[in-house]
Amino acid sequence: MNKIAQIFETLEYGPAPESAQPALDWLKAHDGIFGHFINGAWTKPGKTFSSDNPANGQSLAQVSEGTAEDVDKAVKAARAAFKSWSALSGYERAKYLYAIARLVQKHSRLFAVLESLDNGKPIRESRDIDIPLVARHFYHHAGWAQHRDREFPGQVPYGVCGQIIPWNFPLLMLAWKIAPALAAGNTVVLKPAEFTSLTALLFAEICEKAGLPKGVVNIVTGFGDTGQAIVAHPDIDKIAFTGSTEVGKAIRAATAGTGKGLSLELGGKSPYIVFEDADIDSAIEGLVDAIWFNQGQVCCAGSRLLIQESIEDRFIAKLKKRMASLRVGDPLDKAIDIGALVAPVQVERVRDLVKKGAAEGAQVYEPDFDIPGGGCFLKPTLITNVSPSHTVVTEEIFGPVLVAMSFRTPEEAVALANNTRYGLAATIWSENINLALDIAPKIKAGVVWINGTNNFDAAVGFGGYKESGFGREGGKEGMGVYMKPAWEKDLKPAAAAKAVPAKPVNPLDGGDSIDQTAKMYIGGKQARPDSGYSRPVHGPGGNLVGEVGDGNRKDIRNAVEAARAALGWGNASAHNRSQVLYFLAENLQYRRAEFAARIREQTGEKGEAEVDAAVERLFAFAGWADKYDGAVHNPPLRAIAAAMVEPIGVLAIVAPPTRPLLGSVALLAPALAMGNPVVLVPSDKAPLSVTDLYQVLETSDVPSGVVNIVTGDSAVLARTLAEHDGVDAMWYFGDAAGSTMVEKASTGNLKQTWTSRGLNYDLADTGRFEGDYFLRRATQVKNVWVPYGA
Ligand code: NAI
Ligand code: MG
Repeated sequence: MNKIAQIFETLEYGPAPESAQPALDWLKAHDGIFGHFINGAWTKPGKTFSSDNPANGQSLAQVSEGTAEDVDKAVKAARAAFKSWSALSGYERAKYLYAIARLVQKHSRLFAVLESLDNGKPIRESRDIDIPLVARHFYHHAGWAQHRDREFPGQVPYGVCGQIIPWNFPLLMLAWKIAPALAAGNTVVLKPAEFTSLTALLFAEICEKAGLPKGVVNIVTGFGDTGQAIVAHPDIDKIAFTGSTEVGKAIRAATAGTGKGLSLELGGKSPYIVFEDADIDSAIEGLVDAIWFNQGQVCCAGSRLLIQESIEDRFIAKLKKRMASLRVGDPLDKAIDIGALVAPVQVERVRDLVKKGAAEGAQVYEPDFDIPGGGCFLKPTLITNVSPSHTVVTEEIFGPVLVAMSFRTPEEAVALANNTRYGLAATIWSENINLALDIAPKIKAGVVWINGTNNFDAAVGFGGYKESGFGREGGKEGMGVYMKPAWEKDLKPAAAAKAVPAKPVNPLDGGDSIDQTAKMYIGGKQARPDSGYSRPVHGPGGNLVGEVGDGNRKDIRNAVEAARAALGWGNASAHNRSQVLYFLAENLQYRRAEFAARIREQTGEKGEAEVDAAVERLFAFAGWADKYDGAVHNPPLRAIAAAMVEPIGVLAIVAPPTRPLLGSVALLAPALAMGNPVVLVPSDKAPLSVTDLYQVLETSDVPSGVVNIVTGDSAVLARTLAEHDGVDAMWYFGDAAGSTMVEKASTGNLKQTWTSRGLNYDLADTGRFEGDYFLRRATQVKNVWVPYGA
């Protein structure tokens, strides 16, 4: 039989290799050795390490290990460039971003080949996905550069951004970091991951070619300690990180108290839910993309298959058959599906986790074919016979390994999907659009794909819930994390709180003239403090004006539990939340005289104006409740992405020591308007205006558990709240030390924090605080992708 006839018979793929030569020539043109790209020029190579090709273990080039001095030089260059770069018109910056996009497109094949050589990903992916998305990102952000001032009035860039990226999408992650930073007017110091520095270095050359002013983009290569030097540098204004949750937490702790902006895009264990009415063949192809795209080294990989029990056997059988036809091999072969993992250490990590799974009783399936030896190749793997507590179900494996479980009902699917510390993405397959759209909002993840998977676009925000991080990349939300209000830089330190007479008090004294001790307010009921103790509240002259309960850990725990039970507040209609806030305003207005007198007792100031301001603030956020909402994006494929604004969850608030009523209401109102149940700690100096609110809350139809109030020593209570894993976000008004403590203690579950850092935020300022300042911090955006048409 001749060869062609044979091929027709078997339909076997022949080899279709892409040439490595252009990339190797480029490396050779640099003598195979690189310094850093700082201030528009290459530094002399320092101590170097090898960047390897994981498909064959061969060294591609030597790159320099960035020292703290290198980082410092890069930061100085970025600082020097910031002034003129940020002063350029939006149009000027747009032209640079556009030029970069054009040049990336022009050299896309070289980028794709170099990326596949250095990272091991199939050329099909780098050529058709990574690099086109990079160009798209710069094109898209050219537009944001030009329209920044129109779309973000009053916002200014941070300054110098330190950006640390991982190795799974080397150039794409660079684009996700650099494009919005430059569009907003920042300058950057970026560190690529140690396994994959080369396309970032090629990109530096593109910046030169585009004529980008020197110092605007600086690339420093190196390991984790180079990253650490960036995080620790005092003259960096914002850190943006993508990588492991572990390092993300370390960065959160390291930046605590520094005032640096921070966005984190971390790990995931994303569910891939297949309902019995799904188009099974499509769902199988989607799954191939979800878990075997980029060898499964994808933060949003659909690594947890949740399959409805009624179709489980049929689906798994089909899946195994499909797995057997996947082709593992040379990343530069255009007809392979799975390339090499990034490095031997990752192969070991994945193998260890699979072994652990087997040891815990899981069943491990691998198709019966050979894979190339001598490189970082692994077979596609399916793990079954697991329960939710298995290591392979809870841990991010970050390799070509799928873990499958079944469910019976949609409710069970949601419970399993959310049973993870992560919340990056989710996929839902069902031909029933009602079912899919019912499930999407119930899943705690930043991206939900319906009947599709791994869709990305520059116009659509991407980022996580929970321990998958905070902040978004892409779209308007992504631009938002590279800017801050111009007025923030003018804030002065708050005046130190007036010392309260620290006379020792006999606990038996005082109580007689006070008719009652205010209790806590937990789950809609007044509750006695667990400690059984109360605290005196003094007026401005040191006179005793009341007593409140002295709350402790236990009271906070009860309050958080009550708030978690009230998370349904986020599902109440925006109109309904708005009505409740208007009603609160009305009922507070009704008791104006009483609240004004209480303010006077505690502060000595006339209270009417503060009560009026609090009523106005409630009105303002009642008005926002049904207006601060999302968008529908139109990415360049037949899909819409609905950007839904969702509450963050349980929000803890420690109110400022000034303005006993407005200080709490100004924070409570935006939190409630957006659907977050709250645990509020009023000022410990003047808590009575808040404890007086109980009756107002009760008469205003605020559902029980939506507002919980714990009085006591705010520093002590703040720590408990910051450490509590049931708290999803925290706003803290207080001094610098307390703010640092809150940010540090928040790392456990990576709760989102906002702290006043001892600065004088004047909450009475309606221009600053009746708008989206706190609304943005009370919400997170979920993008739900829905394909349409055929
Ligand atoms: P990693 O988080 O250590 O590396 C990411 C980047 O952070 C690299 O540029 C690295 O040099 C830098 N880095 C490391 N330690 C640092 C520190 N203390 N301060 C500042 N920068 C630091 O991830 P690694 O070790 O390469 O991979 C381990 C696991 O992390 C993977 O198996 C995967 O589970 C997860 N991972 C998740 C990623 C994601 O996109 N979600 C990306 C990369 C890794
Ligand atoms: Mg490499």
